Amino acid sequence: MRLIIKDNYDNASLWVAKYIAKKINDFAPTPDKPFVLGLPTGSTPLGVYKELIKMYKNGEVSFSNVVTFNMDEYVGLSPEHPQSYHYFMWDNFFNHIDIKKENTHILNGLAENIEEECENYEKAIKEIGGIHLFLGGIGEDGHIAFNEPFSSLSSRTRQKTLTTDTIKVNSRFFDNDISQVPTTALTVGVATIMDAKEVIIMATGAKKAHAVYMGIEQPMSHKWTISALQAHRHGIIVCDEPATAELETETVKYFKDIEK
Ligand code: GLP
Repeated sequence: MRLIIKDNYDNASLWVAKYIAKKINDFAPTPDKPFVLGLPTGSTPLGVYKELIKMYKNGEVSFSNVVTFNMDEYVGLSPEHPQSYHYFMWDNFFNHIDIKKENTHILNGLAENIEEECENYEKAIKEIGGIHLFLGGIGEDGHIAFNEPFSSLSSRTRQKTLTTDTIKVNSRFFDNDISQVPTTALTVGVATIMDAKEVIIMATGAKKAHAVYMGIEQPMSHKWTISALQAHRHGIIVCDEPATAELETETVKYFKDIEK
């Protein structure tokens, strides 16, 4: 595992955006050989999206041959709902770059047959040859996508019940009204994420410090689904300084030293 520590959120975001743009450019994608990117929502990736939009506008990267798969979507929200992850992605990223609509994939939270929707999502990822790079954020309880504590580390795309903690944290996007937050979501599984050739998890801010500690310094456990990254061959956690607050000094020193 690599741990990249930047002094603040903006520099962490810039590092991730540059990394993604370089990966896309080095891959030299074509319509027949697209670059496949897994993407998250939440406040954490906003800085990355802003930087990628800037790079696109400066002609430094194109998304015309990039295919995306989003991590998750609330059950019961239409794509037009301002708090749906569909709306979030178009509003904050897709509308500002040259991605083709047919190349974007987001789980349908209104699907009549939820099981089929989830199975088809897994199939679509497989058919395209897998995800090259999955970017994710992390919940305060260490969840990745909506793989709440005690999700199987072998889990696949499915419907998950959200914990009260997650509902409370996410209610900030729903006028702080817990009753407006959907109680379930469709989410890729831990194994869906771990199947990607590379995984980058961004964790910024002091609120994520405990999850970072549990994910990096404690043994792999279904209680902290972020810890599954320990078994990935190309896993990277990108933090700002506050998110490293609970790590041992030696750990921070080690990673800073090897990333010099
Ligand atoms: C939600 C999303 C996660 C995200 C997490 C943290 O639970 N399903 O993918 O990582 O929130 O969000 P934020 O980046 O806003 O802290």
